[in-house]
Amino acid sequence: MPVPLPALAFGGDYNPEQWSREIHEEDRALMREAGVDLVTLGVFSWAWLQPEPDRWEFGWLDDQMDSLHSAGIRVDLATATASPPPWLTHRHPEVLPVTHDGRTLWPGGRQAFCPSSPLYRDYALTLCTALAERYSEHPALALWHVSNELGCHNARCYCDVSAAAFRTWLRRRYDDDVAVLNDAWGTAFWSQRYDDFEQVLPPRVAPTHANPTQQLDFLRFSSDQLLDNFVAERDVLHRVSPGVPVTTNFMVMRQTAEMDYLRWGRELDVVSNDHYLIAAEAGGHRELAFSADLTRGTAGGRPWLLMEHSTSAVNWQPRNRAKTPGEMIRNSLSHVARGADAVLFFQWRASRAGAEKFHSGLLPHAGTDTRQWREVVELSRVLDAVEEVAGSTARNEAAILFDYEAWWGCELDSHPTVDVRYRDRAEDLHRALSALGVGVDVVHPSADLSSYRLVLVPTLYLVSDATAAALTAAAEAGATVVVTYFSGIVDEHDHVRLGGYPGAFRDLLGVRTTEFLPLLAGQQVRVEGLEGGPVTADVWTEDLELAGAEAVATHVDGPAAGLPAITRRPVGAGAAWYVATRLDAAGTDRLVERLVTEVRLERLPGASPLVEVTRRVGEGASWLFVVNHDSEPAEVAVHGVELVSGQEVAGDLVVAAGGVAVVREAAAGGQVA
Ligand code: GLA
Repeated sequence: MPVPLPALAFGGDYNPEQWSREIHEEDRALMREAGVDLVTLGVFSWAWLQPEPDRWEFGWLDDQMDSLHSAGIRVDLATATASPPPWLTHRHPEVLPVTHDGRTLWPGGRQAFCPSSPLYRDYALTLCTALAERYSEHPALALWHVSNELGCHNARCYCDVSAAAFRTWLRRRYDDDVAVLNDAWGTAFWSQRYDDFEQVLPPRVAPTHANPTQQLDFLRFSSDQLLDNFVAERDVLHRVSPGVPVTTNFMVMRQTAEMDYLRWGRELDVVSNDHYLIAAEAGGHRELAFSADLTRGTAGGRPWLLMEHSTSAVNWQPRNRAKTPGEMIRNSLSHVARGADAVLFFQWRASRAGAEKFHSGLLPHAGTDTRQWREVVELSRVLDAVEEVAGSTARNEAAILFDYEAWWGCELDSHPTVDVRYRDRAEDLHRALSALGVGVDVVHPSADLSSYRLVLVPTLYLVSDATAAALTAAAEAGATVVVTYFSGIVDEHDHVRLGGYPGAFRDLLGVRTTEFLPLLAGQQVRVEGLEGGPVTADVWTEDLELAGAEAVATHVDGPAAGLPAITRRPVGAGAAWYVATRLDAAGTDRLVERLVTEVRLERLPGASPLVEVTRRVGEGASWLFVVNHDSEPAEVAVHGVELVSGQEVAGDLVVAAGGVAVVREAAAGGQVA
């Protein structure tokens, strides 16, 4: 019978096909030494499992499954469909993806397939079925892993097969009526009117900007096609291998916008995510923290699995910074603090050959007599010590609304400025809340908002009427709603909401903007009114009139000099704020401090810009996580048992510079009697 997942699983991708039998034996011995209890097997094994169309080679995988089982290691078994073998693309070059300017993406790397190809889908489902039939009862099997990072390199394909699939998708969306599509796409503009669906194409490279709604729908379609590939494999696995959970690894991180993971999450038995730091960015733990909270949002608040991250450097950024001592453990604990029930890595053993040979692994090229290996062993010990947190989750009173469709719409071309980036405000508000020790959920606008007292709405460019109504209802019921600029501008079809900006939120906010006044590159303006003196802002200002709101802060200079920059309006039992400019970090900090005070949100003890403090809550118990990124020790007033050291703490926890701590609180939720 298949086995459950380990409580707080530890391990990584295992690619034994790259190594000899002797190495496999050493691998298992070292995995045991490091406390590895879950490996992801077979991600890129298609060519090994099916070396020719009618020849199957399962012997090596049987051996691996059996020996891992004997070593007490459970398996997250991949369906191996991530990268078609050369025989397939050689035989059927029509499965290869094509870029918007007509270039074929050839085999030789990975993921060389068109997400809409029925041929690819047939071959993939045959492989998936064969694996499910063979291993569904294997005692090592804990989890199925569909494909790998769907859409990582082939999210958008513009080939003729994709074009036909896009038309089918559009017919469904627009009631098979081209007049409805014409309306939605605003084709009265630039003579774009279609009189038959057959004339419609993906937004291939054009003399100038392609129709924005065509672009937006193509992004929706592309995400849906990839999700369909997941669902098709998942359904095979559910049928042939019932009772074994199915996942696919997301890429929730700043670099990845293509897949609508907040919708995808509903289709997975358990969400898993891959996260890689941006090496060039100082303070990358903040982007990590935001992404981890967003991953919990994709999982609907349930625990999730960190499927991949790196022990140290990656190989695919221009300059690949090695992690500093302790950084890997801090990164791992930040994910766990925000709901991860597994800490897995790419990959077990650093490769000798291939494009990823300079990517770090649990076992480095230099072997076990290394600081890296010792940290891996230490991480495993830490995870064992805090294992009791598995299954618990977060309970927060602040939420950030996040929507991939708004992201896509917001960053299309032909906008007032190229400098509005969708995740920018969301991450900055999250950073400021975290620095105050306020936990925050990152959720889709359609989520139930009733338990939130502070609802932040950063750059929600595209909104439905339902979202606008839900936010008004939340404010009336007592929430404080905070909307930032370039929100509520268009409807689902990317049509401007008329009558003054921000159309969807004008009434709620009590403001009316008649014109955007974006700033030039490098231009800064001053804003006064927040406690503590003037702050600077850049990127965005607007010609804003008060229509029921009061000004909290005002522009001192720049094109909006004298006009409100931040406004507030009491609404029912709550309030609605508008932030009409891009405040600098100090400005965001002051605004957030004021909001947190006004709303009286709980601040976890000891938090600061460099000390992450978060809480997981379970049945009758809670755990405070402290991740100290500072070069000074951190002091945290908490009572309970610190699990990493096993020590009791009575209000005076000291976490060493660069260290981590997890305290089972003396009273659940931190309320000491
Ligand atoms: C992704 C992939 C892995 C590997 C890593 C390298 O996450 O899923 O196969 O390529 O990137 O960072």
